[in-house]
Parts: sequence; C-alpha cells; structure tokens
Amino acid sequence: MFGWLNKNRGAALAGQDIIPVIAIDGPSGSGKGTISRRVARTLGYHLLDSGALYRLVALAAEDACSSLQNTECLQDLARKLDVRFEASDTGKERVWLGGQDVTERLRTEETGAGASIVAQIPAVREALLDRQKEFRKPPGLVADGRDMGSQVFPDATLKIYLTASAEERAKRRYKQLKDKGLDVSLAALSRDIENRDRRDSERTLAPLKPAMDARLLDTTGQSIEAVTKTVLDWVAEL
Ligand code: DC
Repeated sequence: MFGWLNKNRGAALAGQDIIPVIAIDGPSGSGKGTISRRVARTLGYHLLDSGALYRLVALAAEDACSSLQNTECLQDLARKLDVRFEASDTGKERVWLGGQDVTERLRTEETGAGASIVAQIPAVREALLDRQKEFRKPPGLVADGRDMGSQVFPDATLKIYLTASAEERAKRRYKQLKDKGLDVSLAALSRDIENRDRRDSERTLAPLKPAMDARLLDTTGQSIEAVTKTVLDWVAEL
C-alpha cells in the first residue's frame, strides 16, 4: 500500500534530506494532534508535536523568567530546554521538564495561551528551529504544528493544512476538558480559541497559514477515522 515509502526507505537512510516528512499544520482544535499521532503510529514514523516545545518554554518561563515579555530569558530557556518525551503503556507519552513530570500542566488552556504568546517572539522560534529539525530521523517523521510545511520542513514530502469551523473546534475542546472532569464554559473556550487564532495568524514571523503547496482538509463534521483515512490515502498516492 505504501510502496513509495518502502522504495525510499533505503534512500532515506542514506541522507537526512530525503527522510520523508508529513507536515500537518492547522489552528488549535483542528484535530492535528490526534490525526498526527494515528498517522505516525500506522506508518511507524517518529512524531514531532512542535506545540509542546512552545508550551514547554511557556511553562519553564513561569519559574525562570520575570515575564513572558522577557525576550532574552525566553530565548535562553528555549535554547537550553531540558526535556524528555517518554512513551507510556497507554500510548500517550509523558513529558519531563528538568526532571519534573509536566504532562498534565502542559495541556492546560493557560499553558496553551502562554505558548501562543512566547511563539510570537522571533528569538524563541529561532532557538527552537534546530531542535525541531532533529526529529527528522529514519524511517520518517510526522510533524504537527503551525509552520511545519511553511518554515521548519519546507521540503516536506506531503503538506496538509487541517481546518474546522471555530464553533466545532471550541466544542471539541469543551468535550475534551469535560471528559477530564474540568469545569469549563463553551463561551469562554470560544473566546480563547478566537484570541489564539488571531495571535497565531497575525504575528509577523511564521504566521499560521497554509503553505503554498499544502493540501487543505476541512475536518468539520468528520470523524477521526475518516480524516486519518484521507491522510493515509494521500500518503499512499505519493
Ligand atoms: O498546537 P498547540 O496548541 O500545542 O500549540 C500551542 C501554541 O504554540 C500555539 O497557539 C501557537 C504555538 N505554536 C507555534 O507558533 N508554532 C508551532 N509550530 C506550534 C505551536
């Protein structure tokens, strides 16, 4: 089925440049995290959750920097980030920052908002660039983020931009948080999503927008299984 991938496995081992990358970008709540994890697992590829790196900088800054405006401190943190991603039995990985398990703190709305603020700072983006590129290892990589296809892996084998209506994205996030037993309001979540979309889209460096050669995939009203299948079908066509 994935003939192209097998054909290129040997070549991929020979040089970094041709290790396949499937770049999956899109706004928060578009389903990129879930879809990327499933696609990576099916293909046996590595996974880069680039948003987690920005979230980690925001988290580390809570202790180390006086504010999220302290560019020098944030850049230094981003360069030295002592992070470990550890696979767990449940299939969801645990994340360690400087020896502390931050898996749950990493996923809060507050950390997401902090990540979106530090992600506006060019020095932080620059400091995280090489770290992201290091995830490109044989047999291949699924990279999830905002600028995977446009900036970090412009030569990606396949670029996908996932979207969904703002209303549906807020509802998905609401369900996720409710399922975790958290008390949240749909109206507040919709506002947060709008603010985050605006900040991520309007920043000057690497704004959230589809790469010129990305395939658009609107996931509104589609199941996780259906979206995963579409992506895998596109991979198989390569
Ligand atoms: O995907 P996420 O919700 O974990 O991302 C958190 C924030 O990090 C997001 O609002 C913007 C920023 N981000 C980014 O600027 N570039 C990326 N490649 C990934 C995330």
